[in-house]
Amino acid sequence: MRILISQEQLERRVSELAREIDRDYLSGRRPDDPLICVGVLKGSVFFVSDLLKEVKTPLAVDFFQTSSYGIRGAHRGELRIKKDIDLSVSGRDVLILEDIVDTGYTLRTVLDLFRFRGARSVKLCALLDKAAAREVEVPIDYCGFPIENAFVVGYGLDFDERYRNLPYIGIYEGEAEP
Ligand code: PRP
Repeated sequence: MRILISQEQLERRVSELAREIDRDYLSGRRPDDPLICVGVLKGSVFFVSDLLKEVKTPLAVDFFQTSSYGIRGAHRGELRIKKDIDLSVSGRDVLILEDIVDTGYTLRTVLDLFRFRGARSVKLCALLDKAAAREVEVPIDYCGFPIENAFVVGYGLDFDERYRNLPYIGIYEGEAEP
């Protein structure tokens, strides 16, 4: 395991992202018109939790989960909703929170879905942008770190459900325990 982004770097950038979000959403926002923040499970949970503690904009939090049909990559773009959000997004500003944009299929579909549901605006905040792996275009409004095309784990990201709780982002280089 090679550390790609340290805990300190994560903390610093997450704070900056919170300030960027407040800069765009806080001014004049009424408490009865909260920013609807939607974390995409499971990878985003650590990011969502750290980020939103620092955001001052009135907000509501919800979670959404998808899964690909069949073998990953075999039916690209076809996503199943495993868990839908509880909140209505009609007429609301929605901010999707994601750990990583890889091929882009997941986020493209999620962004389209919330627009279709009548959100006033839909933006994306992604901690990691693996641009070299992109197959469909996805606009990232708030990006934590551009990263190389490597298999990364930690801070929510897993290898076969392991390593999500690492406090840093590491490059997974093999089967041996780190
Ligand atoms: C990861 C990540 C994104 C998606 C990005 O989730 O959290 O949701 O893949 O990939 P894409 O850009 O190629 O569509 P994953 O399906 O691994 O589930 P998890 O968050 O539960 O680990």
